[in-house]
Amino acid sequence: MRGPRGDRSRQMVESLDALPRVVPSPGFRPVHAKGVCLEGTFTATAGARELTRAAHMQGKPIRVTVRFSNASAFPRSSDDARTPDGSGEPRGMAVKFHLPGGESTDLIAMSTPFFPVGTVEDFLEIVRVQIPDPTTGKMDPVAVGKFFGAHPESARWGKLLKDTPLPVSFARIAYFPIHAFRFTNTNGKETFARYSWQPQAGVFPLSKAEEKALGPNELFDELRARLDAGPVVFTLHLQLAGAGDDVNNPTKEWPADRPSVMAGTLKITGMIADQGRGCESLSFNPMRLVDGIAPSGDPILAARGGAYGLSAARRVRMARGRPSSSSTSRSGARKPSSRKTPARRSVKKTKRRH
Ligand code: HEM
Repeated sequence: MRGPRGDRSRQMVESLDALPRVVPSPGFRPVHAKGVCLEGTFTATAGARELTRAAHMQGKPIRVTVRFSNASAFPRSSDDARTPDGSGEPRGMAVKFHLPGGESTDLIAMSTPFFPVGTVEDFLEIVRVQIPDPTTGKMDPVAVGKFFGAHPESARWGKLLKDTPLPVSFARIAYFPIHAFRFTNTNGKETFARYSWQPQAGVFPLSKAEEKALGPNELFDELRARLDAGPVVFTLHLQLAGAGDDVNNPTKEWPADRPSVMAGTLKITGMIADQGRGCESLSFNPMRLVDGIAPSGDPILAARGGAYGLSAARRVRMARGRPSSSSTSRSGARKPSSRKTPARRSVKKTKRRH
């Protein structure tokens, strides 16, 4: 991508490389590096078809690839988010809908209902203030305090992450694509709406004691065990914008009493066999859209399109120099490294069942 928007996208991707606790991991995603891909089908409801003419929302079962991830930039991050190797939270859920004719469209979500910043400038600044001073190895507390003082939405996001208990399972988290999109139906009627994925099994957190005992790969192992026992199901919901709701600001949720449409059911049935080619080398992009669903004017959404494209091209280039599927464990998460990291604590067998 060339031009000012391309430069901005490059700046955004490269800014992530300098974040603290990031162990450079060439060839992996610069965030959400530890993930696993699953397969299944999505079936839209008549309610979705009334809102949009998009090909995957017409009611026929659509094949999907789903990638769950820890937010950390470290491919061997521990699933315990409170460790120094980088945060597991928020968790990610990226869905690729494989459309008839070979095209695809993506929906990328995280486990918080809003984003900490609403502009590209604020994104670059929040990353910048978290880069440690090379002499002290620490962030500048004055710059950090100043940023969060001036951005209450960023402080609220940080507090939400800190206060939210870790999940018992990737299958028991609600996920939010956050941005509003413009949906157009066959009659040309337009509606702004925001998605959410709700787990059919319900949202369920770990207790404080269970959280302390969480193993470094336990959420990924739990997912595999859960799928051995049967499908994992999510429902997709669309919250419709009310008059005066800001459709361009990812830091602001809309009032909870806005009408919501159940848009479809996602049934995840198993693991993708080749986690290297069928997952790590895949590229999800929030701007990979189809006719019937268009972006809002959200500047973060617009900027993500270029950033994800550049990031994917860069890591695929870098990955040529590193082993890929051979270093992938059955769960899809990376095998523990030989380096001494918190992720190397002994793995307890997953006994918990929720
Ligand atoms: C300024 C805003 C953001 C920037 C610059 C950014 C940047 C990135 C980049 C560069 C990647 C790696 C892409 C790749 O190599 O394929 C990524 C992955 C990801 N991001 Fe973002 N992101 C932003 C906002 C968001 C938001 C708002 C969400 C959720 C709604 C989100 C969820 C994710 C997830 C789940 C992944 C992993 C996708 C996968 O499994 O391939 N990000 N992000």
